[in-house]
Amino acid sequence: MSSSTVITNIAALVTNDPSLGDHSPLGLVRDAAVVIEGDRVVWTGESSKAPATDNRVDADGRAVLPGFVDSHSHLLFAGDRTEEFNARMSGRPYSAGGIRTTVAATRAASDAELEAGLTRYLAEALRQGTTTFETKSGYGLTTADESRALRVAARHTDEVTFLGAHIVAPELADDPAAYVDLVTGEMLDACAPHARWIDVFCEKGAFDGDQARAILTAGKARGLHPRIHANQLSYGPGVRLAVELDAASADHCTHLTDADVDALANSRTVATLLPGAEFSTRAQWPDARRLIDAGATVALSTDCNPGSSFTSSVPFCIALAVRDMGMTPDEAVWSATAGGAAALRREDVGRLVPGAYADLTLLDAPSHVHLAYRPGVPLVAGVWRRGVRKV
Ligand code: NIG
Ligand code: FE
Repeated sequence: MSSSTVITNIAALVTNDPSLGDHSPLGLVRDAAVVIEGDRVVWTGESSKAPATDNRVDADGRAVLPGFVDSHSHLLFAGDRTEEFNARMSGRPYSAGGIRTTVAATRAASDAELEAGLTRYLAEALRQGTTTFETKSGYGLTTADESRALRVAARHTDEVTFLGAHIVAPELADDPAAYVDLVTGEMLDACAPHARWIDVFCEKGAFDGDQARAILTAGKARGLHPRIHANQLSYGPGVRLAVELDAASADHCTHLTDADVDALANSRTVATLLPGAEFSTRAQWPDARRLIDAGATVALSTDCNPGSSFTSSVPFCIALAVRDMGMTPDEAVWSATAGGAAALRREDVGRLVPGAYADLTLLDAPSHVHLAYRPGVPLVAGVWRRGVRKV
């Protein structure tokens, strides 16, 4: 039998199990302990009731929460867009066109360069408490470049998304229908074996609702499950399409009509909000309060990518969501853990309950609220992933 470890003397433990502790959605237990055996959580509760274990870690009156579940990132890329950001912060607007710059650099990169970049950003994310992450292709836009991005990604995570429909490939810019044929045909055939999800950037300048429906439906027929970039830069059909197709998540959700909000609230499609993108493009914030009050499930994620949101920090996104999107600290922490898990349709991460993976973040703070209260401060003092201490 694998050895057991208790993390004890936890001032505030976020379990995301409402049957525990204060019975809030966070299932907050005071003066708590967690017991890990192998790669799983086997027990959570009050310190004084913890069972005997082989090893003991003293949390010393600090907070523990589930590792963050970052359900939306674009980490398979090469090249640099510092100048584009600099120009934007000097007044130039953001558009989908910047993606082409990264496509050219990504095509020119070797597999080793792509993997080195991915590894670097994953290490960065882990140090900030992220233990589960999704990542996408979308900067290759040829059959060979998309499929190799997915192969590289699949060496590092199970949550791999085929985003051949990020923009129309530059060489087919005059013939978008031909590009949709490629994405739903030969490219999908080559990519489906390496991915779990299929995504489309449904936006003016990228793909319209009919094209997005054709692409996601083709992906479904190949066993990929849909998720979608929807309503980021403008109002549009993306969110309602997501609900129609039972997508796991509609991502961005910045420009929503009442009908969009209703559709999300009456579905199991999660609204994934990505405040790093609004921060880095100086755009209008998504209204998390409106979605939560309507009854929608909200996830928070980084959208880490070189164009619109070059942050791997979930704590930063939590702070933004609390300051500018109307979320309470409790809601933001829930959305970055259990919400992310819901956006990936996972039950084994994002919660600290018996049977879940032992993915935990220890904060150098007495409460999870400090993630928003102390913005920009490196509060992550320890990270366990699959029961192994990594930080
Ligand atoms: O999620 N919206 C589309 N894709 C990315 C941006 C990609 C880029 O600008 O390189 C996003 O924001
Ligand atoms: Fe994105």
